[in-house]
Amino acid sequence: MGDFKNLVYEKKGLVGVLKINRPEVLNALNSEVLVEMSAFLDEFEQDKTVRVLVITGEGKAFVAGADIKAMHSMTQLEGREFSMLGHSVFSKIENLSIPVIAAVNGFALGGGCELAMACDIRWASEKAKMGQPEVGLGITPGFGGTQRLARICGPAIAKELIFTGAVIDANRAREIGLVTNVLPLDTFMDEVMKLAEQIASQGPVAVTLSKAAINKGFDSTFATGAMYESEVFGLCMSHPQAKEGFSAFIEKRKADWNKE
Ligand code: CAA
Repeated sequence: MGDFKNLVYEKKGLVGVLKINRPEVLNALNSEVLVEMSAFLDEFEQDKTVRVLVITGEGKAFVAGADIKAMHSMTQLEGREFSMLGHSVFSKIENLSIPVIAAVNGFALGGGCELAMACDIRWASEKAKMGQPEVGLGITPGFGGTQRLARICGPAIAKELIFTGAVIDANRAREIGLVTNVLPLDTFMDEVMKLAEQIASQGPVAVTLSKAAINKGFDSTFATGAMYESEVFGLCMSHPQAKEGFSAFIEKRKADWNKE
């Protein structure tokens, strides 16, 4: 993996852990961080030995948002380009073939909440604080907040949070479905790793195709999504991993997904 100034990557067995590492500004995202994330994701996608990616932040924040000091002097065109850069990086995360878990250790505000929402699963530590406070700065969310928050939590919750700029704690985030689990900080990463390892122990092709089908369904009608599901279900049957999964069940043993 290339050398990055603002990112730290570590591979732990079948799980990759990416840390946003700019703690002096609570991991705020400027163009440099986003460009590094984009390059990382391109390289990461080539490593077929990793089955789950965990994204977290160094220090007390997950990510405290887009870099406010960098945005201060942006022109209209630069603002549009910055937003499009964020969108392109977060779409890469969303469309990564393997599952991505956001381990929301602390502040996930603005672009940080948007980063978490581009991930497939969000777990939070009790210290996490989340929200879209952009309107307090006189801007709208720019890295997908108006779209993904409404899709994840529904339009009324999205409007309430975005219009008020409210910063909510981890338990409220769980109540509204923004995160699915809240854990004490001291055991947080261990528990996230257990979740990642549980996913990594399932049939890898089936996990990848399930992610693709869920994502496809969100962007289409039920009928289109259902048809796509039938296609990927059929595709599984042609793969040795399904034969192995069925055989392992019948023979009362653990599946070996590396078996051809
Ligand atoms: N951009 C740039 N710098 C940031 C930052 C951000 N989003 N968030 C924090 N920092 C910097 C602070 O300026 C401070 O730097 P200095 O030491 O040089 O002053 C350092 O990080 C530590 O932050 P604080 O001293 O403020 O820490 P705190 O614990 O007192 O407060 C906080 C934490 C409540 C998260 C507060 O830092 C804060 O409100 N941050 C901004 C949150 C925000 O508004 N995010 C949305 C940004 S807009 C956006 O994201 C647009 C989009 O959708 C694309």
